[in-house]
Amino acid sequence: MRIAVLTSGGDSQGMNAAVYAVVRTALDNGAEVFGVEDGYQGLIEGRLHQMTAKSVDGIIHLGGTVLGTSRCPEMKTPEGQDKAYKTLKENDIEGLVVIGGDGSFQGAKILATKYGVKTMGIPGTIDNDLAYTDFTLGFDSAVNAVMQTIKMLRDTMTCNKRSCVVEVMGRNCGDIALHAGITSGAEMIIVPEVRTTFEEVVERLQYNLDHGKFDNIIVLAEGAGKAVDMEAKLRAKMEINLRSMVVGHLQRGGDASYADRLLGIRMGEHAVKCIMEGKSSRVVGIVHDQIIDEDIVEALAKRKSFDRSLYDIANKLVTSY
Ligand code: ADP
Ligand code: F6P
Repeated sequence: MRIAVLTSGGDSQGMNAAVYAVVRTALDNGAEVFGVEDGYQGLIEGRLHQMTAKSVDGIIHLGGTVLGTSRCPEMKTPEGQDKAYKTLKENDIEGLVVIGGDGSFQGAKILATKYGVKTMGIPGTIDNDLAYTDFTLGFDSAVNAVMQTIKMLRDTMTCNKRSCVVEVMGRNCGDIALHAGITSGAEMIIVPEVRTTFEEVVERLQYNLDHGKFDNIIVLAEGAGKAVDMEAKLRAKMEINLRSMVVGHLQRGGDASYADRLLGIRMGEHAVKCIMEGKSSRVVGIVHDQIIDEDIVEALAKRKSFDRSLYDIANKLVTSY
């Protein structure tokens, strides 16, 4: 049997650990395995290479993805999808592991339902925005990167009695902001899932300044606004020594954390086992620390819920100056 693996969309830490496990598990089961370069773009253009056990030596910890990735609009068109399938067919590839976010899963779903390719999805995105799984690959490492950034930021903010708006990634999901914010003792966490008015931000900051708390960190999820806009509005409204920063792509870089390496390995192994068992059109996840697989259509139809109780705890812990 021949299996291919690709990484697609925004890269995330742990993708390489998953690729490692996919390749080694496939070989262990007597399958041949091919790495597709640059996600769906490479699949459409027929860019793939056979992988050996040695191809994945020393990659478990690496950030980014050794296979390369892309945003590939052509995959959304019937012509692009035909080309992608043609590459698989010409190379006698029956199974495909797609490591990416919900967009990448849409492509996997089409390859499975329209062309009968045995596809398995592994959730690789720092955003943690997929409802069917407790965690996506890269989320833990991204949160750690934001925590580290805020720790460094505090050193200079505190001695300057200065506050800072810190914008973090996550698309429409506030999980990175919430988890990095609460563990950094952020004075405010603003996420798209909870309505926060500008007046509430001003009120909280003014209260803190009046009570001698000058180094306020406001973690702002990108889905809830831009740090530079928030800084400008606050400066116009109140007397405050304020800066802003965007953590940006640094939160997608660096070695994968222990949690993401292990998750990638467990998910990669499971995805290949599923293909070997004849399963298709499914996505791998982790629920209560158990690796699961679920129908791709059902998984994508689920609505992500936000951990409101954790958000409330975060707020309570920083309101008692
Ligand atoms: P992510 O997978 O991280 O959510 P994107 O949303 O950018 O990232 O999707 C990655 C790629 O998946 C897209 O560039 C495209 O090639 C493919 N894709 C996204 N949506 C669809 C779709 N509706 N149909 C087919 N392919 C899609
Ligand atoms: O989906 C992952 C993500 O990092 C989002 O958090 C962010 O909005 C986006 O990708 C950034 O995309 P790009 O790397 O194309 O700038």
